Amino acid sequence: MNFNDYPRLSEDAKDLAKDIQDFCEKEVRQQTIEADKKDGDITEIIKKATDMGLNALDVPAEYGGPGLTKYDSVALLEQMAYYDAGFGITVSANGLASGPVVIGGNEEQKKRVYDIILGGGIGGFCLTEREAGCDASAGQATAEKDGDDYIINGTKCFITNGPIASYYVVFAMTDKSKGAGHGYTAFLVEKGTPGLSIGKHEDKMGIRCSQTSEVIFDNVRVPSSAIVGEIGHGFKLAMQTLDMARITCGITAVGICQRAIDEARDYIQQRVQFGAPLSKNETIQFKFADMYMRTQAARQLCLHATELYMDHKPFSAEAAAAKCAAGDAAMYCSTEAVQILGGYGYMRDYPVEKLMRDAKIFQIFEGTNEIQRLVMGRHVVGR
Ligand code: CAA
Repeated sequence: MNFNDYPRLSEDAKDLAKDIQDFCEKEVRQQTIEADKKDGDITEIIKKATDMGLNALDVPAEYGGPGLTKYDSVALLEQMAYYDAGFGITVSANGLASGPVVIGGNEEQKKRVYDIILGGGIGGFCLTEREAGCDASAGQATAEKDGDDYIINGTKCFITNGPIASYYVVFAMTDKSKGAGHGYTAFLVEKGTPGLSIGKHEDKMGIRCSQTSEVIFDNVRVPSSAIVGEIGHGFKLAMQTLDMARITCGITAVGICQRAIDEARDYIQQRVQFGAPLSKNETIQFKFADMYMRTQAARQLCLHATELYMDHKPFSAEAAAAKCAAGDAAMYCSTEAVQILGGYGYMRDYPVEKLMRDAKIFQIFEGTNEIQRLVMGRHVVGR
């Protein structure tokens, strides 16, 4: 990591960045390339990463965490994603999964979730359904009151960490008459709860080292104490969580951008064509200028949204801009890296084709770039 990109990084985070770099060079760089060719299973790597506490960077000091700022954890996530975006997504997914609890949960729930995370756990955020993707309010999952309990039914899909999560936050309709905006409620459900099972495992184009699956709720009985926030406030909690998660999603994409630049730069320094290294070719240098400009812009948008979040200022539009710009930048930089490497770039012998496959999802998940533009458009123009 270039510390100049993160001038406000704490000394603790700088030390941790070096540890992460050492760990990733040894355990992630080559192993994830091999795993990507197979089923993407990096269970052992994730175990070592959680032993280092990399899944718990956002846990506050008063709950036993490292006490880093959001700025620090965002920077460290770029470092992890640089080595493999699927690895970065997996270890950072507690930000998304625990978001509703952090924002709206009570003290007991926060303590429970932070304890799970500090014990090496990773969570799953269960919002999306087959017919409710971009239109998150169209979800059909229900939670019916039965005495003091709730019975949850529904199938959530495309859930990051679905197969490996220790806890889930699931959004289900408690009052259909109010629509999702005011009828959705969030519930905290732990792994092993009867009726909770894992459905289809997705076989993905990219970020193959991140596990994605359906999560099925079949008459899952939970006590009222599992409600996160207030009844009927689930949709807002989901939206507030996604605002936060779009920053981390964006910075993960920035990690791909930086890796694409570095891989392509290393290549042009040794590749000789027309009697000179490609690095001397101005046409090629201009490509790097554009990659650099888009990467820096995306990184700064992520950091701006992060600082607004840390200052408790509104940041929905800024987070949408950050995620959208970063997803587009990752696609641009990885495609240019493949172009610069030419025929070699298209082959699996070099890592840039993987970067291009990994980049695509960042224009799609956690709200497509069309949804991010909708959020920004409403912010600028009004509804
Ligand atoms: N913060 C707080 N409240 C918000 C909010 C925000 N960012 N955005 C909306 N709300 C509130 C509104 O104020 C409104 O409240 P009132 O009714 O009291 O006025 C209510 O929520 C409904 O808002 P909208 O009318 O704007 O809702 P909408 O139906 O038009 O949808 C949307 C808005 C932005 C399109 C939203 O549906 C959206 O973000 N869609 C994308 C969903 C998404 O990102 N899904 C990926 C989830 S990740 C996952 O599940 C799998 C995984 O692991 C990766």
